[in-house]
Amino acid sequence: MFVTHGQGTFDMTDYNAARTQPEREHVWDVAVIGLGYVGLNLALSACQAGLRVVGIDRDPTLIAELTRGRTVVDGVDDADIESALTRGFRATGDASAVSESATVVIAVQTPLTLDGRPDHQAVIGAARDIAPHLQPGALVCLESTVSIGTTDGPVRKTLENGKLTAGRDFALVFAPERINPGDPASTVADVPRVVGGINDVSTMRGVRFYQRFVNEVHPVASTREAELAKLLENTYRFVNLTLINELAASLAGTDIDVNAAIQAASTKPYGFQPFFPGPGVGGHCIPVDPMFLQSSLETMGNGSSGVLAAAHRANVERPSIVSKQILSELASAAIPVAGAQIGLIGVGYKEGVRDTRNSPAFPIALELLAAGAVVSFFDDLVKEVVVEDAMLDRHSSVMELVASCDAVVRLQGSSADSFDLHGAPPLFIDLRPRQDLFARLPRTTGVAGT
Ligand SMILES: NC(=O)c1ccc[n+]([C@@H]2O[C@H](COP(=O)([O-])OP(=O)(O)OC[C@H]3O[C@@H](n4cnc5c(N)ncnc54)[C@H](O)[C@@H]3O)[C@@H](O)[C@H]2O)c1
Repeated sequence: MFVTHGQGTFDMTDYNAARTQPEREHVWDVAVIGLGYVGLNLALSACQAGLRVVGIDRDPTLIAELTRGRTVVDGVDDADIESALTRGFRATGDASAVSESATVVIAVQTPLTLDGRPDHQAVIGAARDIAPHLQPGALVCLESTVSIGTTDGPVRKTLENGKLTAGRDFALVFAPERINPGDPASTVADVPRVVGGINDVSTMRGVRFYQRFVNEVHPVASTREAELAKLLENTYRFVNLTLINELAASLAGTDIDVNAAIQAASTKPYGFQPFFPGPGVGGHCIPVDPMFLQSSLETMGNGSSGVLAAAHRANVERPSIVSKQILSELASAAIPVAGAQIGLIGVGYKEGVRDTRNSPAFPIALELLAAGAVVSFFDDLVKEVVVEDAMLDRHSSVMELVASCDAVVRLQGSSADSFDLHGAPPLFIDLRPRQDLFARLPRTTGVAGT
């Protein structure tokens, strides 16, 4: 028997056969492994939709904070945690809770290794932790971004661990998270979810699970298709942001307002999506995921992408280009760099987040320090910046920073109009000019660094 659902048609024969076995009673509808940006938001959304949720994390401090009703990520308030606890949410470090859960979601980190290769260690580690507790009939959903073939390859193998067989004893899907930190409008419920299983039964079970708390679920034919979809969307963003950063650097010093030109191009009702220049593309995902795609193309495709290699190189070089621009403007303003007080506004990887992973602010600060400047910062969310063992002074407000610096550089931040630049320092370098334009554009615009 075949059933068409959303975008996919599924062979339900195995599913219906499996349904003839009585379903187990579970303590939890879902166990979420990894309670960082992705996992915690997912856990709270599922809880809000009425699912019984247990969260599992290796970090005991994080478990203690959540248990006390304290938030650990941007965009989640203490009140959200407290409300979830009232609804029965529990955070624990004990992976055995998996044995009492109908569904298990893996949402652990997937960074790059020091030499820029995909690092799947945390995902494999999570699968290894789950395996001894996995029960027949469970559904496992991998949400962490991975190289193509990881779900149906090493993750499947690790979960099976000589006992259960994926596709027969438990279902397995890849269902990538698309959270957009700092953007309260992109909720887990409202952003459509792509789901691809190792077989039709898995896909159908994944679709049914996500339909309980996500409004639109889009099934695809395989885990590999879903893995590529995730890598593709972030790579698209990365390449476009990198191009616009190069364009802005190349045209700096001319009388062309690049942001105004981008806004003008955006009036075209089709075929163009605006991206805006900034100090460099940072964060845990956008500059990282293209390297997962590159590695997949190298190992399973017909060769790597030259476009991706060039974009990666350009983004690695971007902070240095920005530092040199700052130093050159200091020289033009006759401010000696040795001992110059340079204040950075906004050190998160993008506006509205306290996350500093891969933030261009760090290499920029490092280069300015190496040139002899004294670097300080203001950021309403980031409380501490350590650059190669040196802790930068933090100002308590933009005005305090402006009043005490020779040069001010806005890396991220709200509209320059809101800064009272009366009595401003001799030099103000704005790497986020015309932010006011962004507000008038559709929410899908690619403000750099996101
Ligand atoms: N942050 C984002 O904006 C975003 C958006 C979309 C997708 N993603 C992807 O989602 C995944 C998770 O990202 P994140 O930003 O939430 O990561 P994170 O680093 O914020 O959180 C990961 C958590 O997993 C925990 N963990 C690691 N191994 C564990 C294990 N074996 N058992 C239990 N807990 C374990 C860590 O202690 C940590 O708390 C990544 O693959 C990322 O690329 C992230």
